[in-house]
Amino acid sequence: MTQRVVLAYSGGLDTSVAIGWIAEQTGAEVIALAVDVGQGGEDLEAIRQRALACGAAAAEVADVRAEYAARFCVPALKANALYMDRYPLVSALSRPLIVNHLARVAREHGADMVAHGCTGKGNDQVRFEVGLAAVAPGVSVMAPVRDSGMTRDKAIRFAEEKGLPIDVSSRSPYSIDQNLWGRAVETGFLEDIWNAPIEEVYEYTSDPAVPRGPDELVLTFAEGIPVAIDGRELAPLDLITELNTRAGAQGVGRLDMVEDRLVGIKSREIYEAPAAIALITAHQELENVCVERDLARFKRQAEQRWTELVYDGLWFSPLKRALDVFIDDASRYVTGDVRLKLHGGRAVVTGRRSPVSLYDYKLATYDTGDTFDQSMAKGFVELWGLPSKIAALRDTAARG
Ligand code: ARG
Repeated sequence: MTQRVVLAYSGGLDTSVAIGWIAEQTGAEVIALAVDVGQGGEDLEAIRQRALACGAAAAEVADVRAEYAARFCVPALKANALYMDRYPLVSALSRPLIVNHLARVAREHGADMVAHGCTGKGNDQVRFEVGLAAVAPGVSVMAPVRDSGMTRDKAIRFAEEKGLPIDVSSRSPYSIDQNLWGRAVETGFLEDIWNAPIEEVYEYTSDPAVPRGPDELVLTFAEGIPVAIDGRELAPLDLITELNTRAGAQGVGRLDMVEDRLVGIKSREIYEAPAAIALITAHQELENVCVERDLARFKRQAEQRWTELVYDGLWFSPLKRALDVFIDDASRYVTGDVRLKLHGGRAVVTGRRSPVSLYDYKLATYDTGDTFDQSMAKGFVELWGLPSKIAALRDTAARG
């Protein structure tokens, strides 16, 4: 018999109702855990108090923003992680960290069950449950919204009947998930994929079409990790926070895309990820300067695989772990500065410099001082084309 259940608690309607719902269905004590991954909004203490008011036996908050920045956002940056070449994994990235803390709190309270408020149609149920199976294989999972008939209407009725302290009328028409790495908005009128997003769906970014002056900054990286803005050293959390503000003010990082979910559905998503897009843009360019050609080519394939694994809920998989080792090694010389101009919704690289650059001015220049021996090119080109030339001759001969 389950005695205690740890619930991933957001403070919203669904998870507030889930507290009483789970207690009724299982007879267990519900321990609510609210995790701060930089989603902003309500004060965590207010959320904690609401959990208790909704009947939680205990309620905890965990401010994991610094951990999220350093151990989740930074690795995603080193992997230039963009699912379908666009989406910087905002939600996919936060779930494994929330899983770690659910498992910790379950251990601390001797709970053998964890609950989440995901529906059965999204990726997040997969990320929670597959992640949990990896870090706490003995803990089982309950998903009331998906598995025990807790629909939205029933949730509202339940909240009203029990007099739960949640404002059921102020619900947004959108399904929103946000954290330090960005913000995802879906449902409502956005489900008609011909409908253009309206300005009110955005929160992290200002309208890029509004005329304003550009913002230029220099980002410093050390071994692939962003460490300073304009020479000011900053921890990842502070650096990402500042970039969200500055790039967001220029409308950088808005995305409108149809996405392939793991569960087989194509869905329309609006994202805004100002810091993530600015950082990935700068980081990719520094790699262009510092990473050897074949390593860079191979890394792009590894990055794509890394990104798909994380998107698909496999953060804790052996392949993802091995790819991390590869990416760390490939990042060894990704050190230097990138100058970025943020303007009109775009982050544009305008300069790069590195003490370990592979860009050799003397090899590249067409001016005097050129050290590249062009006489070597003639033989190189000939040998490079030799296999296809021989094959082409054979093809002609065979055709007769
Ligand atoms: N489709 C995105 C993903 O799977 C975002 C999901 C966000 N969740 C939400 N409730 N809006 O990573």
